[in-house]
Amino acid sequence: MKVLITGGAGFIGHNTAVYLKNQGYEVAAFDNLKRATGYAVERLKMHRVPLIKGDILSLRALKKALAGVDVVVHAAAYISVEESLKKPAMYFRNNVAGTANVAYACMRESVKLIYISSAAVYGNPAHLPISESHPANPISPYGLSKLMGEETVNFHARRGLKHVTLRLFNVYGPGQSSSYAGVITRFMERIRANKPPIIHGDGQQTRDFIHVYDVAEAIKLSVEKRLENETLNIATGTPLTIRMLAELTINHANLNLKPTFAKPRPGDIKHSYADISKAKRLLGFNPKINLEQGLKELLKLKTCLSS
Ligand SMILES: NC(=O)c1ccc[n+]([C@@H]2O[C@H](COP(=O)([O-])OP(=O)(O)OC[C@H]3O[C@@H](n4cnc5c(N)ncnc54)[C@H](O)[C@@H]3O)[C@@H](O)[C@H]2O)c1
Repeated sequence: MKVLITGGAGFIGHNTAVYLKNQGYEVAAFDNLKRATGYAVERLKMHRVPLIKGDILSLRALKKALAGVDVVVHAAAYISVEESLKKPAMYFRNNVAGTANVAYACMRESVKLIYISSAAVYGNPAHLPISESHPANPISPYGLSKLMGEETVNFHARRGLKHVTLRLFNVYGPGQSSSYAGVITRFMERIRANKPPIIHGDGQQTRDFIHVYDVAEAIKLSVEKRLENETLNIATGTPLTIRMLAELTINHANLNLKPTFAKPRPGDIKHSYADISKAKRLLGFNPKINLEQGLKELLKLKTCLSS
């Protein structure tokens, strides 16, 4: 089976590409390389995953890349909440128009699509844990662009596209770009420089952190299972406060530091953790990497990445 991964030279894309390759799949990565990391490109090379330089905004490039492909994992997107608040149109163009091209091309070529969406579609939760039936009320252009991407995929599903949409919560692991990094990568960078992690807000906000290898496994299960047109949360189902995360990171690094506090970041959600019973039931998904283990392994990596 051949899988094409858009955004395949990004954090989640390249980890998934290598994971699937190691499981015996034929894999290719598709990326315009504008926000890829050198680390990801090197790892693709090392694992002999072909990298097609192309843009999802070009239907022609996509159609060409789809030759012989059975499943597309669509992970290409701009991903910064903060940046999206300043450049909303850029986010809608890239993430929505780009997804429209991917969905249309997959529909035309009868290729199954795994759309990588985000917990950002939910906005501030009305109840916890967040199940897939929770109303979608995004509070950033980024979250709205991911929701509009979902709607675009659903639209093409009514015209015959087969898809699975995965709403990822906070993903961490090796190879995350420092420019648009999640909180764990930012904390790691500070710790490696022997500086205290900076917490935005009071630190009582919660997140559901999932390791990128568990995400790759969820993607593999979505590729394999005979699931059609389902939307699933991918997370651990376990909340952690940002303060606890900062303290855990400091403790694992054996440093005598105390986190410092800065003003809250606009567009940040207060609490977020998932109900993952649907993914467990339909995919047989069971995240395996606990946070302490994931943090320890990340701390062993000597350097952080830059784009
Ligand atoms: N990182 C997380 O915690 C997280 C959480 C939820 C959802 N997601 C989703 O996962 C996906 C991947 O995120 P990531 O963290 O790997 O981001 P990333 O920035 O590391 O990777 C995205 C990749 O997409 C490429 N790309 C962007 N626009 C493109 C275009 N027009 N054409 C071709 N390539 C393009 C970039 O060059 C980059 O290599 C995104 O769709 C994001 O919304 C990520």
